[in-house]
Amino acid sequence: MDKSLEEILQEAADKFALAADSHALYEAKTAFLGKMGRLGALYKKLRELPEAERPAFGAQINELRRAIEERVVAIEEKLHAREMSARLEKEQVDVTMPGRRRRQGTLHPVTRVKNLLIDVFAGMGFEVFEGPEIETDYYNFTALNTPADHPARDMQDTFYLADGLLLRTQTSAGQIRMMEKKQPPIKMLSPGRVFRSDDDATHSPMFHQMEGLVVDKNITLCDLQGMLDEFARVVFGKNSKTRLRPSYFPFTEPSVEVDVSCHACGGKGCSLCKGTGWIEVLGAGMVNRRVLENCNIDPDVYSGFAFGMGIERIAMLKYGINNIKLLTENDVRFLSQFKD
Ligand code: PHE
Repeated sequence: MDKSLEEILQEAADKFALAADSHALYEAKTAFLGKMGRLGALYKKLRELPEAERPAFGAQINELRRAIEERVVAIEEKLHAREMSARLEKEQVDVTMPGRRRRQGTLHPVTRVKNLLIDVFAGMGFEVFEGPEIETDYYNFTALNTPADHPARDMQDTFYLADGLLLRTQTSAGQIRMMEKKQPPIKMLSPGRVFRSDDDATHSPMFHQMEGLVVDKNITLCDLQGMLDEFARVVFGKNSKTRLRPSYFPFTEPSVEVDVSCHACGGKGCSLCKGTGWIEVLGAGMVNRRVLENCNIDPDVYSGFAFGMGIERIAMLKYGINNIKLLTENDVRFLSQFKD
């Protein structure tokens, strides 16, 4: 190699040896090998030489480049190894340190009961359908055999919106939407929020219901009670029984209130069941012929039953909660008690 090139190589080697870390080495390397660096200047000089001298000088520069590169690689390896071990040292993990505790959330009691109910009824072949919370008067009342002048409208204090719309007072509205959409067989489960102008320790203006609807040939009240017995066993314990009492809803005929034997005293009578041994848990009945007709389902061919329960009410009974407000206050001290 030419003497002046040897000098450049030496200069590079000296610079590289001084590099304290790989970043400094990179900068030093660029100063020699980069386009604007020392070699760049040599290539420029090469282009200015008479043609005959170019091959020899070109070969020399290439040799210099290779020699510089070799030196860079050697030092680079050393620096990398040193930096890696410094990093491993610094980022050492003490595996004997106690872990940081993570606070785990819990499911809201209303969600728990809703999921449990869906489990029970999905196991019997029900499909889940969620209707809208803003309804028309038709779906919430009229189609459910409750026309404008019907006294049963007073059973539910309704929040009316503009243009004939309202906040649904019952998930029963979903029955109509389902039956309009589909001919029997129908097996629908419909959970959702409902709204009523009502507010005390056991009533809240917004609460959740779970609606059930079965329509097919030869459906009877016995089918209803059989399914509700299973529901009572899963939700309130395996010795639970149900009892049907006559009641009234415009959209079912006959209508019943369903009681479950008191899970607190086993039916002997206690303060929870007010000494009767029974607790009222839901409303139900055989779908009124008129409701089937409203949905173009032939009541001489098909029959059905429907039931509707308040999810908050079931949760309050199951977990012994005495005020419905606890379910909307979201006090973590309350909510964290509901663990598996
Ligand atoms: N929709 C009724 C209520 O909110 C409950 C119900 C549902 C009754 C289905 C009978 C059949 O009180």
